[in-house]
Amino acid sequence: MLTSLDGKVVGDFLETERAAHFSDQYEKIHDRYGSKAWMCGRVTMEEHFTLGHKLELKHEDIPPIPRTDFVANKNAESYAIAVDPSGKLGWTKNSIESWNEHRTDDHIIEVLTEQVSDAYLAHLKKIGISYIFGGKEQINFTVVVQKLKNLFSIEKLMLEGGGFINGSFLNEELIDELSLILVPIADGASNSVTLFETSSFLANQHPVNFFLKEVEKLDDSGLWLKYVTKQT
Ligand SMILES: NC(=O)c1ccc[n+]([C@@H]2O[C@H](COP(=O)([O-])OP(=O)(O)OC[C@H]3O[C@@H](n4cnc5c(N)ncnc54)[C@H](OP(=O)(O)O)[C@@H]3O)[C@@H](O)[C@H]2O)c1
Repeated sequence: MLTSLDGKVVGDFLETERAAHFSDQYEKIHDRYGSKAWMCGRVTMEEHFTLGHKLELKHEDIPPIPRTDFVANKNAESYAIAVDPSGKLGWTKNSIESWNEHRTDDHIIEVLTEQVSDAYLAHLKKIGISYIFGGKEQINFTVVVQKLKNLFSIEKLMLEGGGFINGSFLNEELIDELSLILVPIADGASNSVTLFETSSFLANQHPVNFFLKEVEKLDDSGLWLKYVTKQT
């Protein structure tokens, strides 16, 4: 993740020329982790990848589709995992194309709840997007990561925001390591999303300890901080 000095993951600070340099660093660091899977929440996927596109799905005459996981590709070089509980993302193809030299093409996996419509499931199947169920009405991420390992052999997952999905993982104690680029700009906004946020329906929110593993100075006064949640 990349934050301002005041812990924001979005805001005007990201529009500055200085921040662009740190966004490049973010992509390089992504590559250095050598992980074949990354995950984002529905809001981030919509903002950066489906660009708000809405599907026009026909709901009549769709036979009921069982709420069982669907693996369209278990040998992809890389996976992009979208947490989209009710099936809102307007995907039109089953992969995200590489957008810089640090990224490969990613096969899309949707993480859904059983509340999703049959029409949306039929659409995903038709275009060859894999999907897994994380729960009936709410997503249990402990179940999700187990399924990702069992069905797609994903051993290492990079969680890449936004704040609400990060907060859900924090809440279930599923974070081993935090990789944080600290951008030397204070955003100053009071109402923007921070590194970890808590959805209103999460009950267990509690402080979580992190321990410094490594710190690296970046050009132009930035820092790359690596923290782990278990002391070795
Ligand atoms: N600076 C960075 O490094 C960085 C990285 C990534 C993203 N971002 C920014 O972060 C912003 C978005 O952050 P965000 O926190 O608002 O959104 P987000 O985490 O990307 O997505 C939140 C959505 O994901 C789903 N979700 C999250 N937790 C869930 C849970 N426990 N159970 C079920 N569904 C869950 C919900 O979808 P539904 O609403 O459909 O139910 C929720 O509204 C974007 O502006 C993006 O650009 C910044």
